[in-house]
Amino acid sequence: MPKAVVLGAAGGIGQPLALLLKTNALVTELGLYDIVNTPGVAADLSHIATPAKVEGYLPPDDGLAKTLKGADVVVIPAGVPRKPGVRACSSCRQINAGIVRDLATGIAKTAPKAFVLVISNPVNSTVPIVAEVFKKHGTYDPKRLFGVTTLDVVRASTFVAEVLGDFGKAPDVVVPVVGGHSGVTIVPLLSQSSHPLPSDYTGDKLQALTTRVQFGGDEVVKAKDGAGSATLSMAYAGAEFAFKVLRALRGEKGIVAPTYVNLDADKSGGDALKKEIGQDLDYFSANVEIGPEGVAKIHPLGEITEYEQGLIKAAVPELAKNIETGVAFIQSSK
Ligand code: NAD
Ligand code: LMR
Repeated sequence: MPKAVVLGAAGGIGQPLALLLKTNALVTELGLYDIVNTPGVAADLSHIATPAKVEGYLPPDDGLAKTLKGADVVVIPAGVPRKPGVRACSSCRQINAGIVRDLATGIAKTAPKAFVLVISNPVNSTVPIVAEVFKKHGTYDPKRLFGVTTLDVVRASTFVAEVLGDFGKAPDVVVPVVGGHSGVTIVPLLSQSSHPLPSDYTGDKLQALTTRVQFGGDEVVKAKDGAGSATLSMAYAGAEFAFKVLRALRGEKGIVAPTYVNLDADKSGGDALKKEIGQDLDYFSANVEIGPEGVAKIHPLGEITEYEQGLIKAAVPELAKNIETGVAFIQSSK
């Protein structure tokens, strides 16, 4: 105990994420699954002198079920990344929706109690996809399903430290990032930064910093010039979130992180949040307290500025559309 699993483990995110999980002493078993290369990745990682026993499987001979057997935490970075110049890749969306649906079916059958951490894009839709698959199998527990939005949080910390002219502060800067994980649905609450911005950060400067967090993924896609999207920073962020979940599973108290969840996971917190955002959305990323049973408490947004209220207002209809797309995909699937 505990066993962590990576689905899509041979990919750009999957490999460094598996490495980071292997180096964490909290993980005692590590299961790796992909449609290619997992035996090699597993053999390579298995030589690292840390406690986790590593196994890697491919699809033949029930490889997915073998990987998932006994899993406590399942992280899903399987899927197709975006190409440069493409803001919302509709063919990737369809492909990823199918991949995530099939992997969720495997989880529902073999590891229905596992905590599921979804990285595959578009997170705003893939999380509802997993939920709908679990509902079909009668295994849905909203407390155990999380969309990983940590990369937005990591970027916000880094960019604020840059503005403050002190990269040394980056690990300590905490900025809640709420909403969802794509473009305008990403809402950094910069007014709540643990390290306040300079007083001239209003108007255009504040807008530019907000946009940089919202579209940080574009910087990487453009720089990689056809070779994919963020992988290393994503693996770091995914591991940071997975480690929090593992600590919560172990019974550690007070673990709070922004993550995209079903607002029914904590009815009273979720209802209060819906009032704050002025819309009956099913999913939203907020500061969530995680406990040994999963979502323990959904925190309110708290005091936000008029500017941030405007950002939330812009995020809500886009989020509603993305959620509906995910739900409809499963309802129309066989
Ligand atoms: P990649 O192409 O490098 O790796 C994806 C891996 O998934 C590949 O190894 C591929 O073989 C595997 N795969 C494909 N179909 C599979 C299946 N049915 N079962 C198991 N594995 C399968 O891509 P990447 O750069 O690692 O990105 C993966 C996903 O993560 C993309 O959807 C990307 O948009 C998303 N992403 C999300 C965030 C976030 O913040 N949530 C950040 C970056 C990237
Ligand atoms: C990111 O935020 O970097 C990822 O969601 C990848 C992308 O396509 O932007």
